[in-house]
Amino acid sequence: MADALLIRGGRIIDPGQGIDKPGDLLIKEGKIAWLGDGTPPEEDYAVLNAEGLIVCPGFIDLHCHLRQPGGEEKETIATGTRAAARGGFTTVCCMPNTSPPLDNESMISYVKTVAANESPIRVLPIGCVTLGRQGEELVDMSELEMAGAIAYSDDGSPVVSPEAMRQALEYSRDFHRPIIDHCENLFLTQGGQINEGVVSLELGLRGIPDTAEELIVQRDLDLARETGGHIHIAHVSTEGSLELIRTAKEEGVPVTAEVTPHHLTLTEEAVLKYKTYAKVNPPLRTKRDTIALLRALNDGVIDIIATDHAPHTAADKDCKFTQAAFGISGFETALGSLAGLILNSELSLDTLIAALTIGPARILGYEKLGTLEIGAPADVTIFDLHKEWVVDAAQFVSKGKNTPLDGQTLKGKVMATIYTGNPVYMDETLQIETRTE
Ligand code: DOR
Repeated sequence: MADALLIRGGRIIDPGQGIDKPGDLLIKEGKIAWLGDGTPPEEDYAVLNAEGLIVCPGFIDLHCHLRQPGGEEKETIATGTRAAARGGFTTVCCMPNTSPPLDNESMISYVKTVAANESPIRVLPIGCVTLGRQGEELVDMSELEMAGAIAYSDDGSPVVSPEAMRQALEYSRDFHRPIIDHCENLFLTQGGQINEGVVSLELGLRGIPDTAEELIVQRDLDLARETGGHIHIAHVSTEGSLELIRTAKEEGVPVTAEVTPHHLTLTEEAVLKYKTYAKVNPPLRTKRDTIALLRALNDGVIDIIATDHAPHTAADKDCKFTQAAFGISGFETALGSLAGLILNSELSLDTLIAALTIGPARILGYEKLGTLEIGAPADVTIFDLHKEWVVDAAQFVSKGKNTPLDGQTLKGKVMATIYTGNPVYMDETLQIETRTE
């Protein structure tokens, strides 16, 4: 078998290099070796026919939950990363809200060791900001840094203490690492189930107001401005948060921001009839918010798309609404749910791919990821923008079948995911052919 692979005849899109053209991509020894049109500078190679398909850098997810250790009934590093590969992701950054949480060196090492043995793709662990994710006392950030944490977050919960957040931003400035901020004022969200508005009134459920997010966004933008540390606002959900981020960016505050596929494409109506599968934190908001989020992604106020893949068991979701867990299983539907925005001309393909590739790579400071530059690791995603498929959660590779999209027909399907030159997912209609002259 040849150790080189030619991906032939696709539309190559690499926003980091400003490339969007038909062509062929040669992968050799796990790296991008050549990009051109015609005969590659290599005799011996296998061929993957990508005619009619888009060929781009492997997707990077800055925000997901792999649940191991402690939540293996919901997901494991092995199942979550296979689901991610199926969704086109070659790098995932996993949140530390495990049990125990990733708040010390040994926990970061544990995730890295399991991932090295069991994951088909790159796993980059995120360390906690505070001990036990209790929101008060700072972790030993240099210990976590040495162990390999690539960012810090108490995601799932906010960093309650402004002093802890201030110190974290000071350290992160020196390490050049982002603090990924779950913005939630717990006094305002206590008992809250869904967005505060017409739907919460109709269902008689306690609402979560916009201000619960915006008060913490404002606090942490102020702290980032003061310290110079990099704040990354996770899962932005309200128009008001966007205005705060926009102003801060104009003032030069070191802030970046992410939006999830579900906050871009679904509204609070998805929880009507008490549909727990659309219960998520922050909650799905209004049409006005989704329009503002889309505009912000288009004009650069939002930097990236992150899945916030949050797998849960059937028991966690098939219960009374108020008892149900927050979260959506997102790896396997991310592209399919977003492709609709392209097909409706609401988002450009270039912006979408940048938000899933070079955008997150830049936030992480990884120059060689999120790009098809010659010499970069051969992480490549191949997708069909028009292919229709029906979401069947029962067939998810993820243990988390908790998607509000089950049964829906989506357009846009990942056809192959290649990690450091090795195919880690291939649609059954594609195959690699050995070339015979
Ligand atoms: O809906 C959510 N689920 N939001 C979070 O912030 C945490 C996540 C989880 O861990 O289930």
